[in-house]
Amino acid sequence: MTDETIAPNPTADTVDLADFGLFDPAVQQCPHVYYARMQQDAPVFQAAIPGGSLHLITRHEDVLEVVRDTETFSSRFDTSGGISSELATRMKELYETEGGYDRIGTMLTVDPPDHTRYRRLVAKAFTPKVINDLEPAIRAITAGLIDDLLDRAAAGDPVEFVETFAVPLPVTAIAKALNVPDDRLADFKRWSDASIAGIGTNISIDERLDAEREIIEFQKYFAEQLGLRRTEPQDDILTNLLNARIDREDLDLDEALEDLNDDPLTIAEMLSIIQQLLVAGNETTTKFLTEMMRNLCDTPDEWAALKADPVGRARGVVDESLRLATPTQGMFRIVTRDCEIAGTQLRAGDRVVAMFAAANRDPSVFEDPDAFCPAREEAKDHLAFGKGIHYCLGAALSRLEGKIAAEELGRRLGTIALDSSNTFDYHPSFMLRGLKRLDVHVTPADS
Ligand code: HEM
Repeated sequence: MTDETIAPNPTADTVDLADFGLFDPAVQQCPHVYYARMQQDAPVFQAAIPGGSLHLITRHEDVLEVVRDTETFSSRFDTSGGISSELATRMKELYETEGGYDRIGTMLTVDPPDHTRYRRLVAKAFTPKVINDLEPAIRAITAGLIDDLLDRAAAGDPVEFVETFAVPLPVTAIAKALNVPDDRLADFKRWSDASIAGIGTNISIDERLDAEREIIEFQKYFAEQLGLRRTEPQDDILTNLLNARIDREDLDLDEALEDLNDDPLTIAEMLSIIQQLLVAGNETTTKFLTEMMRNLCDTPDEWAALKADPVGRARGVVDESLRLATPTQGMFRIVTRDCEIAGTQLRAGDRVVAMFAAANRDPSVFEDPDAFCPAREEAKDHLAFGKGIHYCLGAALSRLEGKIAAEELGRRLGTIALDSSNTFDYHPSFMLRGLKRLDVHVTPADS
């Protein structure tokens, strides 16, 4: 191919918003140029979807406004993904015959005061101490995964980073957090995969029912574990969930509402919360860790700086990778009353998406927004974990995993490089974006 025939990379100035399709795999390979164009020309962009439309909110200040105003922008969006009545009937039958527990919308898809109750109770279980205490375990898991990376690279072959490192780290870390014994890790991974089956993709009814069978198995395992902890409490999240109570004196005045239900969590609620930890935490962290590795391979100076001072540099590398990756690209909200955002009129019932991915590259907040600059001062302003009352519950855990990964990769690896076979294909989801695979060459630090 000659220079003349190579199509130039699209830029915000050359793309046409008429070509934007939310579910278009080609667009989702690089949606950022479209988001940049939207920020300039249509900050509240109405994207067509089957049966309606979604309003994409793309500017940093507008995304903040949406996620902070929970009365106008409700989180009670439909999580069923519009499942067919046949699937609904067969799922109901399955749960009845197999003795599954009701799936309850907790945290992510509820508003105050229900949200206040769940967050308060879960905060008693998922405490900063619980997360900090996981550090030695996460470091040991990371060390084992780096051993695997180096073993597989010993013959000079490329290693696939997603499956070798970025998938197992978060799954094993959350399994440790939930006190799952090592001999049940394979089951736990299976249940975790089943929990996300069908999110953002189309699967058949039978495939979905197979996944639900696994979820019922997961429910039974954890229901039994919770039962055991009633009689023999342990120092773990499960026991904390069982014992969590709302202390009205802890509440701010405006939260001390008469209608705040202060009942302890039911077993079905605890199971839904545990499942939400898997759904919300594993894929997202996998995608972030993968992007972090890609960024470090792409910027030899930053890799050298990390290697020279792993502990000092890791935090910046983590935040900047979170900003650029933004694995949860956007989150739905339902408009509860007519309002206006960035000069666009929205009506009660409209569905909007707070596009964290777009906000995180808003040039009015982040200078040279597409560049990987771990030292940038405004790094902390990224919205990869959202903001406001729904701010990611697992942010501290994910950051800890990222920090340990960056430190240990910097300490243990010598050179890192992308294999020339990489095509950098992203999963074509506008909600959960990340690389399908990443082939890298790595050498040990002292070779
Ligand atoms: C890089 C990794 C992660 C990213 C990018 C991420 C992103 C997000 C975002 C953007 C939200 C806000 C959603 C909204 O405003 O509607 C959120 C909420 C949430 N995240 Fe994460 N998350 C990550 C890791 C985790 C982990 C490890 C866990 C659990 C162990 C977790 C559990 C949750 C839960 C339960 C919520 C709902 C909180 C609520 O609605 O009050 N996340 N996450």
